[in-house]
Amino acid sequence: MNLIDPPVLADIASRRGVATGGVATATLDTLNRPLRDLRLSVIDQCNFRCTYCMPRETFGADYRFLPSAERLSFEQILKLAKAFALLGVEKIRITGGEPLLRRGLESLIEQLAKLTTGSGKPMELALTTNGSLLAAKARSLRDAGLGRVTVSLDAVDDAIFRRMSDVDMPVSRILDGIEAARAVGLAPLKVNTVIERGVNDSQILPLVRMFKGTGVVVRFIEYMDVGGADGWSNTKVITARETRSIVESAFPLTPVVVHEHTGTAVNYRHADGSGEVGFIASVSQPFCGSCSRARVSADGQLYTCLFATRGTDLRPWLNEAASVEQLAAAVRSQWVQRDDRYSELRSTPRKPASGKAYPTVRMSLVGG
Ligand code: GTP
Ligand code: 5AD
Ligand code: SF4
Ligand code: SF4
Repeated sequence: MNLIDPPVLADIASRRGVATGGVATATLDTLNRPLRDLRLSVIDQCNFRCTYCMPRETFGADYRFLPSAERLSFEQILKLAKAFALLGVEKIRITGGEPLLRRGLESLIEQLAKLTTGSGKPMELALTTNGSLLAAKARSLRDAGLGRVTVSLDAVDDAIFRRMSDVDMPVSRILDGIEAARAVGLAPLKVNTVIERGVNDSQILPLVRMFKGTGVVVRFIEYMDVGGADGWSNTKVITARETRSIVESAFPLTPVVVHEHTGTAVNYRHADGSGEVGFIASVSQPFCGSCSRARVSADGQLYTCLFATRGTDLRPWLNEAASVEQLAAAVRSQWVQRDDRYSELRSTPRKPASGKAYPTVRMSLVGG
């Protein structure tokens, strides 16, 4: 099968390794943003029901998750990773749902860890997890070649944690996971905390206190109106600025100077030198201008924005008949058309002709 123009294929092929003189050419979208970061969701299921992501009213016992036969195989995921490497991707994040629920994940990680970027550097390999299975798996993940983990944790108080994640589990189980990951060297370890006004804002200072001086970076995220966040309203958002002033009321901070801001978080350092705290202002100060992230869902759909209403089915290129270069060309043809910047446009909601809002893809399918 060859759905792509031959000149495009030749261009992709020339990006392989030393063919580019060791320097990978960037794949740019219409706003000149390179494709650098790939988020691969390996499963859409999760053992938590965080109210801002998978509220139980929507994701109840009768919710139809992807049947396992519809999930991409590890071979297909590896092929995707190789194709994205050809296009300039330097970092792969494995997400879900909860990725540690995917059986045998270590064998996928083993394969991904062997990849190099177009310029010959080892591929950066990270994983986002809710931490509940991390204590048991940290060592095997590290042994498989995983570089680092980011753990979601919204409270240190058991009752607030239970309310927010809607799961019957003590915070200590997540803390044990974090400790196990740190102990085996899955570093730098980051903790992601979504702050919802009136629900866990009381946890900002306790979370900072808990991780100060441990090397773990806590990052506070503004509550977003992503797919799945059915109860979202702008009154529940606490801005990064407000969160930072709460932190600074107890812990003096100084900004960390970066030359080029390409990530999601803006970091500050504790004035006494005992580590950093990050703020992810995805609602109040969107970072679409430097967004280099592509997402592929567990069933092989490519999304070029977290708030996309539809994806591109990559499965036609994930069978044995198509080469890695052909798959890369298919991805490239989407990326070069990309003009997404939803968070910057949030104030003007898109409406179809019927007047109903388009549903955006749910975060648990496409990965955080
Ligand atoms: P690092 O490489 O560890 O810095 O990761 P990261 O910050 O790129 O990714 P992470 O998955 O830790 O992202 C943190 C949170 O930021 C996510 O859980 C989302 O809530 C939010 N986020 C990540 N990427 C995007 C994005 O592209 N758009 C928006 N609006 N929010 C994002
Ligand atoms: N707003 C902000 N972040 C969210 N996440 C999930 N839903 C939301 C939301 N509505 C992020 C959290 C979690 C990751 C898996 O996805 O950071 O850690
Ligand atoms: Fe699961 Fe993470 Fe979503 Fe919570 S935020 S329901 S842990 S995928
Ligand atoms: Fe990127 Fe879309 Fe998020 Fe903007 S809203 S930062 S374009 S994923």
